[in-house]
Amino acid sequence: MSSKTLTVPARLLRRCFHKPRRVFHVDPVRLYYRSPQVVTGSAVRTVDLRSDTVTKPGAAMRRAMAEAEVGDDVLGEDPTVNELQKFAADMFGMEGALYVPTGTMSNLIAVMVHCRERGDEMIVGDLSHIHVYEQGSSAQLAGVHSAAVTTLGDGTYDLDQLISKIRHGYPDPHYPRSRLVCVENTHNIQGGRVLPLSFLQELRSVADKFGLAVHMDGARVMNAAVALGVQPSVILQHCDSVSVCLSKGLGAPVGTMLGGSKDFIQRAVRARKALGGGMRQWGVLAAAGKIALSDMIGRLEEDHRNARSFAQGLLQCDPPLYHVDLTTVETNILRFRLRDTQMSPAEFCERMASVDEEEVKVLGQGLQVLMFPHVGGTVRAVWHLGISEEDTQLAVLKAQFVAQQHKLKSIRAA
Ligand SMILES: Cc1ncc(COP(=O)(O)O)c(C=O)c1O
Repeated sequence: MSSKTLTVPARLLRRCFHKPRRVFHVDPVRLYYRSPQVVTGSAVRTVDLRSDTVTKPGAAMRRAMAEAEVGDDVLGEDPTVNELQKFAADMFGMEGALYVPTGTMSNLIAVMVHCRERGDEMIVGDLSHIHVYEQGSSAQLAGVHSAAVTTLGDGTYDLDQLISKIRHGYPDPHYPRSRLVCVENTHNIQGGRVLPLSFLQELRSVADKFGLAVHMDGARVMNAAVALGVQPSVILQHCDSVSVCLSKGLGAPVGTMLGGSKDFIQRAVRARKALGGGMRQWGVLAAAGKIALSDMIGRLEEDHRNARSFAQGLLQCDPPLYHVDLTTVETNILRFRLRDTQMSPAEFCERMASVDEEEVKVLGQGLQVLMFPHVGGTVRAVWHLGISEEDTQLAVLKAQFVAQQHKLKSIRAA
């Protein structure tokens, strides 16, 4: 029956019960479980830009690991772990540092130490790793409630919005109690953006005014320090605690340093043990961490340069399939879009990862370039110590080939 033939009340009733079907668009964020097969073979060269977590320890790290002096770290007796912790604390400009297995555990420990009472709340960016990728562990395991503020394109958030989220009702039993505010530097989802020092300074003033602690998920804060040309302590002076991953661009196989005050670290040791992260003779791993912090920071500059040169290469591709905002390329993570919506980011990544006969004929070799489809219909590529300048140029070559092949296919299909 057409709606024209219905009375007004009948039309209203129909609208209530026959809602138009919504079409939901599912954003293909990190497809961890659909990673392309890595084909090996003499004719195929692989450039793995999926993440800076794919790095493998080099010869110096492996040697240091084999030769490390060790002891029982739960008893505080592993000399290599102790040395690493002292080194990290000095570098961060903080009273202490604790060696922790992963960035996820380190962030959770920080939340547990800053938010000690049931009913405590933290304020996080809605696109932060803590909020999106850590399985809600602060709620699941620590009983801490989160309030989210909108993450802006540069990884910051609006401080007025932050202030609007702070609860002022304590001890009114209706509300959680605001305790902590978290930032992420560099910002992963927003494409390795570096938080401006002025933002951190203002955030510190807000936090001080309202009695909040500031935790930085600084998984890649060394990239931020290199990009800004400052010591890490210049960034970290605005934070009460920081979590710094050794196993990303810095190339260690495992480990994160959690920095903070002496009291914070004492409490963090307890939380780490409760979470099962109290390790024994793991000086064999800390030895790699020491090299990560002492020798690997300088080379991050190379990753930033390669990411930028790939971005520039994409813009020069003919036909122009790629959209990149060069002003957003600050460190080792690049996000870009496809101008033609006929090809989805997932299809593009599959195309970059596969090798066909035509490609081998035209390019003289097979190039398998691995990337992930990312948040908001983008593609993400990440540079690290396993990617040379030559690999970067080969990745541009493949992107150029894919753009041309896509154009030819579209013309044939028309
Ligand atoms: C910004 C950020 N924080 C935390 C983590 C978690 O680190 P992990 O994988 O060591 O748990 C990651 C990992 O990619 C990250 O990118």
